[in-house]
Amino acid sequence: MHSENSEFISDTNETRDKAQSGAADTVAYSLPVQPTHEYRATEEDLFYFRKWFNDYVATFASEDTLIQINIDLKRDHTLRVCRASQEIGHDLNLSQNDLRLAEIAALFHDIGRFEQFSRHRTFSDKRSFNHAAFGVGVLLKDNVLSRLGIYEQELIIKCISNHNKLILPDENDESVCLHSRLLRDADKLDIWWVVTDYYSQRATGNINPGLELDQPDTPGISPAVFESIMNGETVLFANLKNLNDFKLLQVGWVFDVNFAPTLRRLKERGYLDIIRSYLPASDEVEELFVCVNNYIEQRVNTA
Ligand SMILES: [Fe+2]
Repeated sequence: MHSENSEFISDTNETRDKAQSGAADTVAYSLPVQPTHEYRATEEDLFYFRKWFNDYVATFASEDTLIQINIDLKRDHTLRVCRASQEIGHDLNLSQNDLRLAEIAALFHDIGRFEQFSRHRTFSDKRSFNHAAFGVGVLLKDNVLSRLGIYEQELIIKCISNHNKLILPDENDESVCLHSRLLRDADKLDIWWVVTDYYSQRATGNINPGLELDQPDTPGISPAVFESIMNGETVLFANLKNLNDFKLLQVGWVFDVNFAPTLRRLKERGYLDIIRSYLPASDEVEELFVCVNNYIEQRVNTA
């Protein structure tokens, strides 16, 4: 069973204070990206970082089953996010250098999760610490990225820092912007897999309250959640009243997807249809999915 709390749940008290980002940039990144900075990350760098990651994760091996299960889950999630970043990156016609940097960012984006769970037995940032900021500290303390140039190191650090923010901050640097967006999309794509897998297991009685962030399984959906999605906005954690709202928050992530290829893969994999099958068959839910599916169609078809 998965017991991961999504980075995008944002269980902090952030509010939506900026317009939604994303759709406007799809066309620009459909073309080969010309970096403004000539940076390099080599295959050797990648091998070194993969080995460092495996060695680091191995230090958290535990006889405590709960800890070991969650360390394994986070390692597996990380490796799938690496794959997703490559898939989306290929769709975006990124260069080999950019693909390598994307993999390094994905490999380290949740590096703070291992100590978080080992120490606090939770993936809730609110109940422990900001796992992105902590992960940056881990990398800096051990000088893990030092074989890369200063620019590349800062790029990776910024991507990690940005990956769990409710809204991606404006980044002036084109490459930082691209890689931050790519990492967030790859992470979301895998979290959709995680939650849909969990809902199918939950249906057989395998309930994990931690993964539901303790939302009660009560009927109906909240008006504020309905409004957010109908307005094309992501759902705020503060507006959740029950598990249905929480599932709709996961549906609403589509409005924070940066690249059309991510939405195309989401559609092909049927993740939203699976979430819908675990929501009430009401007119309201029907209306929400018409809105969301229209949005996806429009983004995918105009890319
Ligand atoms: Fe992640």
